[in-house]
Amino acid sequence: MALAETMNKRHLLGVRDLSKEEIVAILDRGDFWSRQTNPIGMPLQNATICNLFFEPSTRTRFSFEVAAKKLGSHVLNFYPSSSSTEKGESIYDTIKTLEAMGVNIAIVRLSDGNLLEEIASKVNLSIINAGDGVHEHPTQCLLDLLTIRQHFGQIEGLKVSIIGDIKHSRVAHSNMHALSKFGNEVMFAGPAEFLPDESELTANSRIVSVDEAVREADVVMMLRVQLERHADRYGDMVDSYLNEYGLSMDRFNTMKPEAVIMHPAPFNRDVEIAAELVESDRSLIYKQVANGVAVRMAVLERAV
Ligand code: CP
Repeated sequence: MALAETMNKRHLLGVRDLSKEEIVAILDRGDFWSRQTNPIGMPLQNATICNLFFEPSTRTRFSFEVAAKKLGSHVLNFYPSSSSTEKGESIYDTIKTLEAMGVNIAIVRLSDGNLLEEIASKVNLSIINAGDGVHEHPTQCLLDLLTIRQHFGQIEGLKVSIIGDIKHSRVAHSNMHALSKFGNEVMFAGPAEFLPDESELTANSRIVSVDEAVREADVVMMLRVQLERHADRYGDMVDSYLNEYGLSMDRFNTMKPEAVIMHPAPFNRDVEIAAELVESDRSLIYKQVANGVAVRMAVLERAV
């Protein structure tokens, strides 16, 4: 089944599949929700959503739960270790089972970046990608865009640097594709083994040194060193990573005066980012977390 057909069901599998207009519509609605102190009515009170996280999460899982509850939905949380997936039931069969029970939206995080599209083509409930392998993390990207737009008043024209483990980052991949739709110049930097092949870059993106990426950007987006994945290499290097590739205080002092710091989190303080910068007045990190709830409210509304 063609992806366009699956998209009609209001799945959200990746930002690659969204037009700029669709992204802007989600941001507008997320912006609306971010400004409400109390939810207006219960627009999704008849909906049941299920969080299925096959990888750990704090921000994405809880913000979807908060978002769903603010909209009045029933929320189910699925725990793989106490489910029949432990007996070998597939993710597809699990989702079909939930669908038969009346679940309307499945929010899925998993390590396989090739599975969701196929599942989405075979189910009637809506699937939202909460991060699939190294492929995409669309709601993180949308909350990043909303945070940038609220801070600068626009997305277009800004230079965005994404620094760290680009190759294994679903956040970097989603942001690269979304920012290309807005025509932004995107700079990537980090250790050589973490950088994408030039052939994978979109038209307005390029690879630069970490120093240039920090110095030239309006938005400096740091990525987590995935220590669980690279313990062999970076377990020994944690002390030197900050100075070689991270946002150290010395590099921070070269940033443009109006430039801001972002990070999808979780972060390793004093590894990819100097600890004191996380809560500095130039950091939008907790604004990103807050916007995660608002954007996910917009995405849930879109999914029913
Ligand atoms: N940024 C993000 O996806 O965080 P979690 O892994 O905690 O959900």
